[in-house]
Amino acid sequence: MINFNSEFTKGFVKAEDVEHFLELGPKYLKALKEQTGLGSDFLGWVDLPNRISEHEISEIERVAKGLQKFQTIVVVGIGGSYLGSKAVIDLFTPYFEHSQTEILFAGQNLDEDYINQLIQYLSGRNFAVIVISKSGTTLEPAVGFRLLLNLIVENYGENAIKNRVVAITDAQKGALRSVVEQYGLESFVVPDDVGGRYSVLTAVGLLPIAVAGIDIRALLNGAKNGEAKYTIESKENMAIQYAAFRNALYQKGYNNEIMVYSKPKWNAMAEWWKQLYGESEGKENKGIFPVSINITTDLHSLGQYVQEGERKLMETFIRFANPETKTQVPNDNNNYDQLNYLTGKSFHFINAQAETGTMQAHNEGGVPVMQIMLEELNILILGELIYFYEIACGISGYMLGVNPFDQPGVEAYKKNMFKLLGK
Ligand code: PA5
Repeated sequence: MINFNSEFTKGFVKAEDVEHFLELGPKYLKALKEQTGLGSDFLGWVDLPNRISEHEISEIERVAKGLQKFQTIVVVGIGGSYLGSKAVIDLFTPYFEHSQTEILFAGQNLDEDYINQLIQYLSGRNFAVIVISKSGTTLEPAVGFRLLLNLIVENYGENAIKNRVVAITDAQKGALRSVVEQYGLESFVVPDDVGGRYSVLTAVGLLPIAVAGIDIRALLNGAKNGEAKYTIESKENMAIQYAAFRNALYQKGYNNEIMVYSKPKWNAMAEWWKQLYGESEGKENKGIFPVSINITTDLHSLGQYVQEGERKLMETFIRFANPETKTQVPNDNNNYDQLNYLTGKSFHFINAQAETGTMQAHNEGGVPVMQIMLEELNILILGELIYFYEIACGISGYMLGVNPFDQPGVEAYKKNMFKLLGK
């Protein structure tokens, strides 16, 4: 179960301002469901949890099983082509060990050291590649993939490409589709009507997640629960509430939203959320800037700003109800650090008090706070949360008056870069 709490926005925004957006919410949700709003060509994700076929799921599981025999899988992709799978994989794999199949990511930067060291590292390992690009033309994954393809040929010969590369791309167009055809690769399709940042519940996200040994059926079942709950055209719908509160706050000048969480494992999830909201809403000189803070780590870096900097911040705290482990603070007879008052207390308890204390301090310091409470951190609830964030993003973008499904601004840097590179 997921709950949304807006109590700590009181005093920052008037009830009637929120009500205005709550009234609009069901209308915008209907437009998403009936594909009558802006960007309606890219709404294939709205009913995806229920629409994805048993055949597609079984195929993903079959290919994932085949890839699990390799020591290392390199997922090549950028933006929506890797952030979702990384988020889920980081959350459901241990901090300090990887499963039998190690998953690495490439093609999401152009740092020479990164790619160089990756190539060195892979030289001693039995590896395969999942290359993901909807357009098939994005520079970062394309050049990364070139190098990895060369490495496969060098290490294992050209015939090995067929068994060591799986591609996820457009059904017909793009360079990657040509590679699929040339080498007879296993491949999956990114549906035309699903944009990159909304694609985690297609093969784009599901294949790497399945390779990591995570139950994709449970993830999809969670998303189905999300679809059932968050497509109800009512002001009680939490996705409408989240969208309404953040837009009402935005209108009052709170134009940055900080996602606050107390688990380092959530870092990649925050990156996924930032892309989803930043790329969907930041256009036409409008939009809430999405940022994230990991507590307590970032309280020793950004905490000062949040507490006393410019008062344009709103926060959404992610609350995790159940601890994963119960590690307790040991007693120390010397008590040099004067911390024996914590003896026997679990880290979860201490972390929860740090989180509550932070929330109170920020709220009293002038930051409106929303909370998203997760009954438990499991794959089913994460699937529901992914759907919650996606649908809330569509509604929120419509409230803001932008098309949440395009990204015209991403082209600007490419234009300059290509010119400088002599394309
Ligand atoms: O959300 C988006 O559409 C983008 O972030 C894309 O996912 C990203 O630019 C990568 O594009 P492609 O999959 O075409 O390589």
